[in-house]
Amino acid sequence: MSTLTDPAFQQLLTRLFSDAERTQRQFHEERRALLAQGFQQGSPEYSAAARKAHLAITPETGELLYLLARLREARTIVEFGTSFGVSTLHLAAALRDNGGGRLIATETEPTKAEQAMRTLTEAGLDDQVEILLGDARETLRARRPRPVDLLFLDGPGHLYVDVLKLLEPDLSPTAAIVADNAEARGYRTYLDEHAHYVSVSFGTRVEISLPTG
Ligand SMILES: C[S@@+](CC[C@H](N)C(=O)[O-])C[C@H]1O[C@@H](n2cnc3c(N)ncnc32)[C@H](O)[C@@H]1O
Repeated sequence: MSTLTDPAFQQLLTRLFSDAERTQRQFHEERRALLAQGFQQGSPEYSAAARKAHLAITPETGELLYLLARLREARTIVEFGTSFGVSTLHLAAALRDNGGGRLIATETEPTKAEQAMRTLTEAGLDDQVEILLGDARETLRARRPRPVDLLFLDGPGHLYVDVLKLLEPDLSPTAAIVADNAEARGYRTYLDEHAHYVSVSFGTRVEISLPTG
């Protein structure tokens, strides 16, 4: 049996996806009210509302991440944007089933990082994961895992190109780069025009790219 299909792991995922749906709904309502009152993204009021929201991947994207990490036989994975750790769990499960490895996760919000680590501990996967607290553009500069077999981009979209550029020298030749919300400003343009990748879209949100050398 794989870690992904283990009944206890599935039960944990069901709970997390249900929490994610609830907090997403709450966030959308609070966001609408805040914007109507003139509180912009980046204001303390907006940030306080976002702090409670998972903003998690879908179950399908979770399965895709698990499968890609297994197919690439990933041993080193970097995640940009961990939140409460839904994607992190799928990636850590894949590492466990690949025989072990290292997932370097990144998150700016301490309460989210702490909760993500508690959940990973509950799943028995905390030994695969290190969560770097702070802006990924800084924390990943200081802690450079290499070679990176899979990079998952799921933080603020306008930073995808910065994070990808930072890690490009460390990507393994067979690395997979997966971006959620890939419609983010400038990301697809960078892939198409400035870098050597072949990319395919998975649904409307997810882009999977491989270096072409
Ligand atoms: C869309 S959520 C991640 C969802 C997570 N991957 C999941 O599936 O559960 C994006 C997260 O990125 C975090 N974040 C924002 N700016 C960041 C930065 N500069 N570096 C690292 N994380 C950041 C936010 O706090 C937020 O929790």
